[in-house]
Amino acid sequence: MKNISVIGSGTMGNGIAHTFAQFNYHVNLIDINQSALDKAIQTISKNLDRQVSKGSITEDQKATTLKNIRTFVSTEEGVKNADLIVEAATENIDLKLKIFKDLDSFAPQNAILASNTSSISITQIAAVTNRGDKVIGMHFMNPVPVMKLVEVIRGYATSDETTKTVMALAEQLQKVPVEVNDYPGFVANRILMPMINEAIYTLYEGVAGVYEIDTVMKLGMAHPMGPLQLADFIGLDICLAILKVLHDGFGNPKYAPCPLLVNMVAAGKKGAKTGEGFYQYT
Ligand code: CAA
Repeated sequence: MKNISVIGSGTMGNGIAHTFAQFNYHVNLIDINQSALDKAIQTISKNLDRQVSKGSITEDQKATTLKNIRTFVSTEEGVKNADLIVEAATENIDLKLKIFKDLDSFAPQNAILASNTSSISITQIAAVTNRGDKVIGMHFMNPVPVMKLVEVIRGYATSDETTKTVMALAEQLQKVPVEVNDYPGFVANRILMPMINEAIYTLYEGVAGVYEIDTVMKLGMAHPMGPLQLADFIGLDICLAILKVLHDGFGNPKYAPCPLLVNMVAAGKKGAKTGEGFYQYT
């Protein structure tokens, strides 16, 4: 494994590209327009600067990391030499199915196709390809260069060999891979999202305010961020989409998204990325 292609240059995509490049993989970062790619490279450069200023990497390592990343606006061009492709596009099932159909036709036959999806079924994604055994979930956590976990999701048809390769690869990135099966929300979001939803219900029902809820969880449970701040950080639209996958997938009312979350997303208050969620961002 040397050549990694990453589809999507948003928060997760640029973090994944950054991490592979930092560990000396050749990364092709792909998006639909050059301005998104340029912005992603700026973000990676800024995040590398943080690491340099903390002394966790050197200026030389920063330069090598950036040199290891090439950008592409054509998927066909960007994946033609790939050993592994990690898709980190928007959480939209139709978009993901289209991307995986394209990847199956453009990527080398033995390339592994991974998705960074936070909750969409790997089995369903694999079914649009002719290589279900080589399709897998590789779910990184935000911020990718910092967070140790990679949730490795085995679809119904994923082979042992593909799973072993991806687990070993995550270890090469100094991450801790955890193997899980493909059911709604996998493990991370099946547990995280009900907690966030409950925090939003706690606010909605007037039990306590934003500061109070987050402080209880930060200082009482030693969480690095309170659940409402974390929801803003993840994106309220993403939280809502994941809760809908859990609700539809299990048919259990305990996963029903809080009406306040639904309203905030409808009003365009999607968290840090839009400047407002439970908190204001300037
Ligand atoms: N790139 C590189 N380094 C980064 C970074 C980035 N994007 N963001 C932060 N860092 C580094 C900092 O340089 C710093 O490094 P040192 O430890 O060497 O000092 C370290 O991370 C901590 O950063 P800060 O001191 O700036 O801030 P902090 O201590 O408040 O930590 C945080 C920031 C790591 C984001 C922390 O608040 C945290 O862990 N929050 C929770 C994150 C979380 O739960 N993520 C999972 C979200 S769920 C998800 O991603 C999946 C999903 O499907 C929804």
